[in-house]
Amino acid sequence: MKVRVLGSAAGGGFPQWNCNCDNCRGVRAGTIRARARTQSSIAVSSDGKSWVLFNASPDILQQIREFPALQPGDKLRTTGIAAIVLIDAQVDHTTGLFMLREHNRPLQLWCTEPVFQDLTTANPVLKVLGHFAGVQRHALPLSEGGFSIPGIEGLHFEARSLSSKAPPYSPHRDDPQPGDNIGMTITDRRSGASLFYAPGLGAIEPGVREAMMAAQCVLVDGTCWTDDELVRLGVSHKRARDIGHLPQSGAGGMIEQLNALPARTRRVLIHINNTNPILNEDGPEHRELARHRIEVSYDGMEIEL
Ligand code: MLT
Ligand code: MN
Ligand code: ZN
Repeated sequence: MKVRVLGSAAGGGFPQWNCNCDNCRGVRAGTIRARARTQSSIAVSSDGKSWVLFNASPDILQQIREFPALQPGDKLRTTGIAAIVLIDAQVDHTTGLFMLREHNRPLQLWCTEPVFQDLTTANPVLKVLGHFAGVQRHALPLSEGGFSIPGIEGLHFEARSLSSKAPPYSPHRDDPQPGDNIGMTITDRRSGASLFYAPGLGAIEPGVREAMMAAQCVLVDGTCWTDDELVRLGVSHKRARDIGHLPQSGAGGMIEQLNALPARTRRVLIHINNTNPILNEDGPEHRELARHRIEVSYDGMEIEL
């Protein structure tokens, strides 16, 4: 299985257009060692030809330009993207669907029922797309046993509902529904190797812990370093946990959770907010992650499993 990180940043990207925090200012000015990043998405394939796009980032056109495998192949209008899976209905994971509207047939879209509801009512992206290429929606099951995606025969998918947050615009932002946010285990049928992917992970409940324990690689929520990061900077009144993101540091944080995984498990963070000090590759937080063998994903990173 090939995993390509298309976008490793959280909503807003890095640097964020209006942000003057130490990281954003530093990366713009070139005064810190940090890489610019686009918004949250990965692509996964078993044969390197047909890809499943996880989330459609607002930056998808740039991400496709930077990854030839997704670009048109032999026919006049064609794409390496065989299917799109949404892990939630957040703006940073769905806005890119608009950028794919010129296709010559409906987009093959997999999402849960609450995500489908959000995207056809409060934020009717899928209805708007009906006036263009349209979407063929496939119900994404949360049942054990998982599912297959036609055209992606080499991979098996198993989704779990997890504790994070529906989007700010969602009628169930504060009334969680199973399937508002999911984590996905993707298994290569040939090698048996698996990836657990969860860019929004607010708390690690038993089923999610089991899925993480069983995977060869986890690619999980790296939004904030501290729970009060956004509050202390004065950019929000909400703590990381309030918006469905488990911070890395502190008691019960992501570092502690990842330390409990088997020694062989590869641990990688994704969906990193522009305020997160781990983006500074010379900083003590980045070094602390390295001490725990935790990697910080970047745009263009490839993982082979
Ligand atoms: C999140 O991950 O919490 C959201 O993407 C925030 C946002 O909409 O910018
Ligand atoms: Mn997000
Ligand atoms: Zn910033």
